Amino acid sequence: MTSPHVHAPTFEHHRDPLGIGENAPRLSWTVTTGLPGWRQAAYEIELSDGTASGRVESEESVLVPWPGGPLGSRERRGARVRVHGHDGKASDWSEWSWAETGLLEPADWQAGAAAPPPGLLGPPDGPALLLRRDFTLRAPIARARLYVTAHGLYEAEINGHVVGDDVLAPGWTSYGHRLRYRTHDVTTLLRRGANAIGATLADGWYRGRIGFLGGTTGVYGDRTAIIAQLEIAYEDGTAETVVTDGSWRCATGPITATSLYDGEKHDARLLPDGWSEPGFDDSAWLPADVLAHDPARLVAPSGPPVRRTETLSPVAVLTGPSGETILDFGQNLAGRLRIRVQGPAGHTVTLRHAEVLENGALALRPLRQAAALDQYTLRGGDGPEEWEPRFTTHGFRYAQVDGWPGDLGPADVQAVVCHTDLRPIGAFDCSDPLLSRLHDNVRWSMRGNYVDLPTDCPQRDERLGWTGDLQVFAPTAAFLYDCSGALASWLADLAAEQADLGTVPPYVPWVPLKFPPRSAAVWGDAAVLVPWVLYRSSGDLGLLRAQYASMKAWVEHVTSLAGDDHLWNEGFQYGDWLDPAAPPDKPGKTRTDPALVATAYHARTARVLADTAALLGHHADAARYGELAEAVRAAFRREFVTPSGRLACDSQTSYALALTFDLLEGPAQRERAGRRLVELVVQDDHRISTGFAGTPLICDALCSVGAYDTAYELLTQRACPSWLYPVTMGATTIWERWDSLLPDGTVNPGEMTSFNHYALGAVADFLHRTVAGLAPAAPGYRRLRIAPRPGGGLTHASARLETPYGLASVSWERDGETLTVTATVPPGTVAEVDLPGSAMREVGAGIHTFTVTGKGGGPGPAR
Ligand code: BGC
Repeated sequence: MTSPHVHAPTFEHHRDPLGIGENAPRLSWTVTTGLPGWRQAAYEIELSDGTASGRVESEESVLVPWPGGPLGSRERRGARVRVHGHDGKASDWSEWSWAETGLLEPADWQAGAAAPPPGLLGPPDGPALLLRRDFTLRAPIARARLYVTAHGLYEAEINGHVVGDDVLAPGWTSYGHRLRYRTHDVTTLLRRGANAIGATLADGWYRGRIGFLGGTTGVYGDRTAIIAQLEIAYEDGTAETVVTDGSWRCATGPITATSLYDGEKHDARLLPDGWSEPGFDDSAWLPADVLAHDPARLVAPSGPPVRRTETLSPVAVLTGPSGETILDFGQNLAGRLRIRVQGPAGHTVTLRHAEVLENGALALRPLRQAAALDQYTLRGGDGPEEWEPRFTTHGFRYAQVDGWPGDLGPADVQAVVCHTDLRPIGAFDCSDPLLSRLHDNVRWSMRGNYVDLPTDCPQRDERLGWTGDLQVFAPTAAFLYDCSGALASWLADLAAEQADLGTVPPYVPWVPLKFPPRSAAVWGDAAVLVPWVLYRSSGDLGLLRAQYASMKAWVEHVTSLAGDDHLWNEGFQYGDWLDPAAPPDKPGKTRTDPALVATAYHARTARVLADTAALLGHHADAARYGELAEAVRAAFRREFVTPSGRLACDSQTSYALALTFDLLEGPAQRERAGRRLVELVVQDDHRISTGFAGTPLICDALCSVGAYDTAYELLTQRACPSWLYPVTMGATTIWERWDSLLPDGTVNPGEMTSFNHYALGAVADFLHRTVAGLAPAAPGYRRLRIAPRPGGGLTHASARLETPYGLASVSWERDGETLTVTATVPPGTVAEVDLPGSAMREVGAGIHTFTVTGKGGGPGPAR
């Protein structure tokens, strides 16, 4: 194809723009064209209400301002776009795409919070409750929308059909500040005449147990409730609204207990037939109480919901040491099982979940106080019964099945993978199957740990939005998935919690456990660095604008903690958490001085804040934080760096921080520091010796001083501890510890032994940028940097990314001394191509092939 083809525009960061919260959604589009070097010169946007932007002379195609007037609640609008190239030729108009706003004003909400009466509520994590009501529709229906959320977890039904395909709705936000609702198109579920609406309601994060050390319950309240507003537009132009109110009736149902950590118990004999269909006799049910709620807290989603994204069949049926049946799904994942079972009424099947086996049996200790046990009691009858728990999720690869009636067939039990349905955008592959598997493991850990919010782990009594884990992983996350919308919500929670607590708590949403919300470097720094990473990958300056107050408040807070000498050397720190030298029971006892880590991060966040201020036009702030960054850098050097460039704390993490955060002065110090870092890595036999703080940086640090070979030796090391050691042990996800499974096959005795933690997988960012060689050179990949640095005996590597401008890719092959690189540069962008041993050049949109000979080296890509 030669002439440019423009794709239908997208709205903000939405995958499914029904019920959006923005009244002037920004539009983005991509162009496909075979015209080399194509760049947009102008665009035209047309809206379905007749608004036309006219020809706008602009190269912008990402998050372009809404050309029309602000939308009101429930407004549906189409948009299409046409582009003009610098060559004067116009594309055809794109297809239309449509968005519809949700309820934008608190006053739009008439629904009360319908709460089951206290007498029906069990203890926290007790039974799920059913709520329902009948209603009559008097005319043919043109359109119907259900706006719905809950205090607790819900699944809505209309006339016997489950509404939507969300899992664990409404997800977890800082409910005290922000509660997400969803908009569903339910037009086809309704009919003229008698109808019924119902919901199953569970405690979930609202009232159920959350957290470690025994956790806590009732964090957000002790009464669960459903908030639903069903708006029906009749064909005759009139309308009707059915809301949660005192007319709803409540009862217990088949779910006798359900808990995010402990699992779900379902007795199918207790399911009232037809309870969500019209005409069901609910006279014995109890009326709901109507509780006050604040509709100002209700927000539309900015990212996708949790969904079932894949189903896996067992790859093996094993027999445990006591004769138990254990299914191996071949992949560690987050989700739950779906069973198809036939047997007598009252018979119970029990499902237990674990990530690994120890001595052939499920290893349950790493789950700590999460029972991860589901039970299904059969209704009995002629046909098979299908069941999947609804309000729980587990992290597992293995499942023990007890009490199965008859023979267990291969199709009887499936693993249903559940996580936030983010759009996958990035991929990596290379000639070393172990490295490629490492990358797959990183992706699986991202999937397992994005269950509505970015978590530390999906299996034990935790699953919290630990800020540090995401902070180090964010560059990788933003390459693998389009997570801008989803993370914008989490960052809004972070800012809300921060405003309340006076600091960025170590996990968001904050849940008070046995310690106060302590300020910690690396963790709290997420406030500044996560928005920055998202801006770099998406080009969305609006994200920085939205987070600016939070970013600034964090840097100010750290500045006051550090005091006049600018050294953050007092108070609690996690430091280089999980440094492999730390004893199993003391994961924070690290080689690297926590004050060095904290002060380095202070300099880094002050610098990023200064850059952000400049971008947003806050010039006084830009100057102030620029000076602060310099002052902290100077303080760092005074305290931790010898004049020649050695570090007072002689650890790999110290050098990695100093080099990548640009804390040293002049080439001589960098050279000395680089040499020492290489010595340390060699001294450790190229085994990894960094924790959460150093791991994402160490390879970049080595490359930044030209030590590519050392970086590759570290990257391709297989002995423990290393990135590839878990892969050689059969890992299918990234482990929390370098040695979560010890070389003898036993589980690490420490408390912190998850097999699905993404933090140490932050190295995937290096695989993308340096091994394959695809990096942003300007926000949103408007400029690309194509700079592969082949090494480690690899013969090929490739990376692909759906950038905001379209597909970019780099793929290289090495044949002896000849390196052939093929790159796809999306329309509207340019790429700087920096290949080993050859001069830098710039190319425009199109597919390019380059060949260079010789071993080459050269500087690594800038971060
Ligand atoms: C979590 C981590 C987290 C850490 C903070 C752990 O329990 O699983 O990943 O960042 O605590 O120290």
